Amino acid sequence: MPSSDRMTGAIKLRLVLLLVVVGAAAISVAAAAAADVDSFSYPVFDATTTQDLVAGSNTSILTPASLLFNQDALFAEFNRTEGFLLLSRTVDVWRVGTGGAPAFEASFNTSFALSGGAPVAFVVLRDSYPTLYGTGGLRGFANYSASDADDGATSRNASGSLVSVEAGPVRSYGPDSPAVGLNVTVTPNDARVAVWIEYDAGVHRLSVYVAGAGEARPATALLDAPLGLAGERTTEKAMVGFFAGAVQDILVGVRDWNLTVDRFFDSSGGGDGWKKGTSSWVILLAVLGSVAAMA
Ligand SMILES: *[C@@H]1O[C@H](CO)[C@@H](O)[C@H](O)[C@H]1NC(C)=O
Ligand SMILES: *[C@@H]1O[C@H](CO)[C@@H](O)[C@H](O)[C@H]1NC(C)=O
Ligand SMILES: *[C@@H]1O[C@H](CO)[C@@H](O)[C@H](O)[C@H]1NC(C)=O
Ligand SMILES: *[C@@H]1O[C@H](CO)[C@@H](O)[C@H](O)[C@H]1NC(C)=O
Ligand SMILES: *[C@@H]1O[C@H](CO)[C@@H](O)[C@H](O)[C@H]1NC(C)=O
Ligand SMILES: *[C@@H]1O[C@H](CO)[C@@H](O)[C@H](O)[C@H]1NC(C)=O
Ligand SMILES: *[C@@H]1O[C@H](CO)[C@@H](O)[C@H](O)[C@H]1NC(C)=O
Repeated sequence: MPSSDRMTGAIKLRLVLLLVVVGAAAISVAAAAAADVDSFSYPVFDATTTQDLVAGSNTSILTPASLLFNQDALFAEFNRTEGFLLLSRTVDVWRVGTGGAPAFEASFNTSFALSGGAPVAFVVLRDSYPTLYGTGGLRGFANYSASDADDGATSRNASGSLVSVEAGPVRSYGPDSPAVGLNVTVTPNDARVAVWIEYDAGVHRLSVYVAGAGEARPATALLDAPLGLAGERTTEKAMVGFFAGAVQDILVGVRDWNLTVDRFFDSSGGGDGWKKGTSSWVILLAVLGSVAAMA
């Protein structure tokens, strides 16, 4: 199963792997692919829809994230820990061409409703999870400062009557990769809002639109910033989802999450042989102190 291989490869430490067989009742929330985009749609995060999502903190990875709905003290604590809720499969961000330069770059659009007042970030990471127990934690060094103004590594912010928005990098990958991917943090001023985040790879621009719940996307973006994701900022495929100061802020605050990403190849030919929605194993990766179980 590619996702678990990728994750165990990435974290290579102290994991106790519990395998639980589940029937063939695979959940395919995320497989409604149109002709040339990959589409993902989650009306709500619940015990069913999170079966093909992954939750991660700075010390452990929980897959499937639906375990968060098991009434157990371990999972209740995970709920309150800062971390990510991510698609269990990666999406295409760019493709290398001859000579090593990026040949293709994907545009993407995502939209979601947000309520509750807690900041929630839409994030594009790398193709592997940040190092567990990494130096600086998921939020990186407090003294991080970006020098490259044009690729999105410099944080930009904007405030409106409904929200404040900050767009910058993900800082979870340690001192060697202090500014990775994309981190669009939205802090609602209280009420329920609708958020649209659009990345146009053709012109390398990020646009964030915000409206009241149920309203149409406004014509004018609240935040509009240069962004380049191809190249060193992230890997060709990337994990995508949300980050919050408590994982449950994502579960509770985000509704109607839609994501469409340009697809480079037909799903029959590309995609690492990944089969969407066909998982028949549920894998719990639980970090139990320093118990060494895998090498
Ligand atoms: C985690 O948070 C979600 C959303 O509030 C809740 O439905 C779930 O019961 C919580 N899980 C635990 C184990 O407390
Ligand atoms: C994103 O939305 C714009 C219209 O706002 C559309 O032109 C574009 O094709 C969409 N791209 C993706 C990847 O969904
Ligand atoms: C993980 O993050 C939490 C919350 O930010 C922090 O309190 C804790 O010290 C971190 N643990 C490690 C091992 O970095
Ligand atoms: C930032 O903090 C880290 C850890 O304390 C330190 O190693 C690094 O030199 C600092 N960087 C700058 C630019 O001050
Ligand atoms: C943007 O961020 C800077 C630095 O964090 C802060 O001083 C400023 O008030 C923010 N502006 C808005 C509009 O949120
Ligand atoms: C995302 O950006 C926000 C705002 O700058 C920051 O507070 C948060 O720590 C960042 N999260 C990650 C995972 O980099
Ligand atoms: C999200 O996708 C669903 C299903 O395709 C659609 O009904 C809904 O209108 C979309 N929501 C937004 C805000 O685009």
